[in-house]
Amino acid sequence: MKIKNIYYVIIAIFTVFYSCSSITGDKVLNFLFDGVPDTDTLKSVVDQNVKSDSSLQPVQNTNKLIKPIIFLHEPYKERMCESCHDIKASYKKLMNLPELCYECHDDFQSTYKNLHYPVESGECNSCHHPHQAKLTKLLLKSIRELCAECHDLNELLNGDIHSGIDDAECTECHNPHGSNENSLLR
Ligand code: HEC
Ligand code: HEC
Ligand code: HEC
Ligand code: HEC
Ligand code: HEC
Repeated sequence: MKIKNIYYVIIAIFTVFYSCSSITGDKVLNFLFDGVPDTDTLKSVVDQNVKSDSSLQPVQNTNKLIKPIIFLHEPYKERMCESCHDIKASYKKLMNLPELCYECHDDFQSTYKNLHYPVESGECNSCHHPHQAKLTKLLLKSIRELCAECHDLNELLNGDIHSGIDDAECTECHNPHGSNENSLLR
């Protein structure tokens, strides 16, 4: 599998280039339609999700075994902390998101014409935990709960577009990352 191969190559690359971290500039967008959050909401959701999570608190003994009661991100499970962190500098991230994720995963920027705003701005952490999660795909919450953090579901579901979708998963029609269609449609 392609990702497994690059996974090991990446480690070597990081040891050489770990000091060259890239910085994503703040991106400002105007939101032109209803049901869409402003950037302050976006930022506070990300901050809350990361800060309120006990598994993101500093780890004292990194050799401690992790109980397999949750879904683990493969490089975390394999204890390859240094693929994402400078372990000699208080676990500082090697680079910002989304670049860090794109070291191993396909770059959504080159996959899709239109990107979902939190993906474009590198807020992968608003939906995924970088280490582990109780849900598959490292999701922090159920899909509807995630969407509801930034979108007004009452407003959306009472509008014409979504009338009658009942319990359909939002991701049945929308790709959470990006799309070549409008409105992130699959
Ligand atoms: C796939 C990349 C990845 C791997 C592998 C990984 N982490 Fe992380 N880790 C992150 C990200 C992203 C954050 C969130 C940091 C942020 O947003 O500033 C984080 C946060 C942390 C924090 C909190 C740091 C802070 O600034 O608050 C600690 C401590 C930590 N990780 C330890 C570890 C340990 C120990 C391992 C190995 C068992 C590990 N990580 C593996 C990506 C990773
Ligand atoms: C708005 C929420 C959201 C954001 C933000 C988000 N994801 Fe996802 N991601 C999902 C969901 C939901 C899935 C489950 C698969 C699906 O339903 O398409 C997923 C699945 C994945 C997968 C598993 C492969 C797959 O497509 O099923 C990877 C890898 C991934 N995301 C990486 C990322 C990266 C990297 C970022 C940041 C650049 C990111 N995601 C941002 C919601 C999100
Ligand atoms: C060092 C390489 C590496 C980095 C960096 C990395 N990942 Fe992964 N990730 C993997 C591997 C390996 C898998 C397992 C892939 C597979 O099974 O196809 C994976 C799987 C995933 C999955 C799917 C989990 C599931 O349950 O299927 C998600 C979501 C994901 N990664 C998100 C992220 C996000 C978000 C980032 C950035 C914070 C990131 N990854 C950074 C290597 C990496
Ligand atoms: C962290 C905040 C955040 C989360 C979580 C989030 N979104 Fe969004 N979403 C946004 C922002 C901000 C925009 C507006 C972006 C723009 O104007 O291009 C947006 C725009 C959209 C759009 C319209 C895109 C377009 O091009 O017209 C759709 C559809 C969408 N989101 C669906 C979802 C779904 C489905 C989920 C849950 C899987 C979700 N969003 C979760 C922040 C979020
Ligand atoms: C049955 C398919 C379907 C499902 C399920 C669905 N949507 Fe949509 N959604 C659409 C279509 C179609 C559009 C409008 C496309 C257009 O007119 O460009 C849309 C538009 C949107 C927009 C753009 C804002 C707007 O009002 O134009 C957002 C945000 C959005 N959906 C979020 C969600 C969320 C959150 C969920 C889950 C609660 C969801 N959608 C479930 C089909 C769906």
